[in-house]
Amino acid sequence: MWQQLNNDIQRTRQWQRGLGLLPLTLLVACDGQQSTLNPAGTGAESIATLFWWMCAGGVLIWAVVMGIALYVTQAQPGAHGIRSARWLILGGGIIFPVVVLTALLSYGLMLMPPLRSTTDIDLRVDVSGEQWWWRVRYQTEAGEPVELANEIRLPVGQRVAFDLTSPDVIHSFWIPSLGGKVDMIPGRTNQLVLEPTRTGTFRGACAEYCGTSHALMAFPVVVMEPAAFSSWLASQAQPAQAPETALQRQGQRAFLSNGCGACHRVRGTEADGTVGPDLTHVGSRLSLAAGTLPADVEAFRRWIGHTGEIKPDVKMPTFGMLPDDQLNAMAHYLKGLK
Ligand code: CUA
Repeated sequence: MWQQLNNDIQRTRQWQRGLGLLPLTLLVACDGQQSTLNPAGTGAESIATLFWWMCAGGVLIWAVVMGIALYVTQAQPGAHGIRSARWLILGGGIIFPVVVLTALLSYGLMLMPPLRSTTDIDLRVDVSGEQWWWRVRYQTEAGEPVELANEIRLPVGQRVAFDLTSPDVIHSFWIPSLGGKVDMIPGRTNQLVLEPTRTGTFRGACAEYCGTSHALMAFPVVVMEPAAFSSWLASQAQPAQAPETALQRQGQRAFLSNGCGACHRVRGTEADGTVGPDLTHVGSRLSLAAGTLPADVEAFRRWIGHTGEIKPDVKMPTFGMLPDDQLNAMAHYLKGLK
């Protein structure tokens, strides 16, 4: 019982500390790589402006209502006649809300057409939400699309149209710093247009609960200067780099002989699976397992050997039965796929 009491006290103290940190947390949440209030795209700028107007309006109305409530506690009984009381109800209860809500609704609707416009598109990217990762396909002028996974790079100042879909369940595609979110619905293609306004690295996430590992489904978004973007896309279109060291060659043999190529494609090799992420340039990506792990050799080894522990219910089987030297060689091979 004393143990229980002690635990309760501890928990209460943690709560109190947590509450003390709340204002700080709210401030910190406005900054960073994944914030609608620190916009880096035209869509996010409109959303942030709308939010601040709504917020200011809400605070103002709250202050007026509190003022009236305070006044009522101080006023003498019978200080106002029945006529003025009726006017207060009519004005405060009907006229004021109708005027304010109509104004806010009109303003919100006014912001929408430019956000939804699909004209003057500079780049097209297809993204498919899978369990639990992102298939990304860049449409290129050469005709052959470039497929990669779990990372999106965009040229600053250009309008990008995303065609969003899903083969399994509903996901939701959201890059808070750049714009609003759009659902990815099986059997449909939804469109979202984003226009980044400054360079940087941001974080995108799935915004619709889609199963056990919904929270492990993120992706880095890198906004680059157009020239740097073009050379990045050109490098992604190249076939995979051949392994350079003996360890990487051993890793490639292990990768091919254990059947990894049935699900994964490494362009330029016999691995041509399409079920899982394209790994042609996986070593150049900023994260592993859709924003779940850092992209270093150690993380590759952990991922292959403990897949289901790291991302519960993922479709990729765990290859924990492989000897350590094979896991290590595979990790070096994959990290070498720049
Ligand atoms: Cu995909 Cu949640």
